[in-house]
Amino acid sequence: MTSIDRAFIDSLPKAELHLHIEGTLEPELKLELAQRNGVDIGQSTVEQVRDTYSFTDLTSFLAVYYPAMEVLVTEQDFRDLALAYLRRAAADGVVRAEIFFDPQAHTSRGISFATVIDGLWSAVQEAPSLGIDAALIMCFLRDHSADSAEETLAASLPYRDRIVGVGLDSDERGNPPEKFAAVFAAAKDAGYRLTMHCDIDQEQSIQNIATVLHTIGVERIDHGTNILEDPALVAEAKQRGIGFTCCPVSNSFVTDQMKGAEIAALLREGLKVSIASDDPAYFGGYVSENIAVLAEAQQLTSAEVVLLARNSLESSWASDEKKAQWLRQLEEIAG
Ligand code: HPA
Ligand code: ZN
Repeated sequence: MTSIDRAFIDSLPKAELHLHIEGTLEPELKLELAQRNGVDIGQSTVEQVRDTYSFTDLTSFLAVYYPAMEVLVTEQDFRDLALAYLRRAAADGVVRAEIFFDPQAHTSRGISFATVIDGLWSAVQEAPSLGIDAALIMCFLRDHSADSAEETLAASLPYRDRIVGVGLDSDERGNPPEKFAAVFAAAKDAGYRLTMHCDIDQEQSIQNIATVLHTIGVERIDHGTNILEDPALVAEAKQRGIGFTCCPVSNSFVTDQMKGAEIAALLREGLKVSIASDDPAYFGGYVSENIAVLAEAQQLTSAEVVLLARNSLESSWASDEKKAQWLRQLEEIAG
């Protein structure tokens, strides 16, 4: 059995394109912020907090995930959260991080949009000192109303130059992509790039994937491996160069398996598959770990691991100039 050297994976310049900043809240930082802000979270040790990070599917994960955000209160908290992630990502060879954030998870509990974006932006500006080019993607919560998404889009417009694109996350059940067609069209008109979650094994996964490709017009799909159920859609996504941001470790927590065979099949079919960590504080693996477990489970060749890194850079929303520079670095390392 071959296994790809972890140092080799770390050494490859890569983009992380599916990372929820709220999902990087490690128990240590949660305790620190709870203390700093005088929030009683009901636990006082790292082990106790870690024990609360327990779930069996997407819905039970989200039921733990949103309440945990109560410790995020000030601009400094959002900055500290993002900087902790960026430091960790730098160790994994991340040169570009496109970071999801969920404004409604904060504005709905009285934290202003400005507090969230100012804190995150401060970390984004510091990212180059860690060797990372960072960007922010604003996600709408699909279990909130379309009107709430419209209000969030309006709130973001004064900060248009700090946000590269919009996405859609939270509970897909009963919240299909067409609910957000108008707000995504308006976001596109405002110059935002578009991505959307198509979570794994949802009741309407394949219909929702068709809708995001045909009606919403996304450039990337977050997760999306159920596309394999429709070979015509696979061919179309390949032809259009749609990026698929796949998260094997996350999949193994919120479904019964990591969906490694599906991820490898899409990669080998020539789709722009990249690997990311989703919510690493909850699932326990940052990006290199995600690549390593997939490589091990699917016996990926080193050329396929390099392809995952190349795909991540190619499907990122960085400037063409930066992408070309990282791709040259990647080819030098990969030989
Ligand atoms: N799916 C839906 N919502 C989420 C996810 C996800 O993978 N991670 C954080 N919020
Ligand atoms: Zn996600």
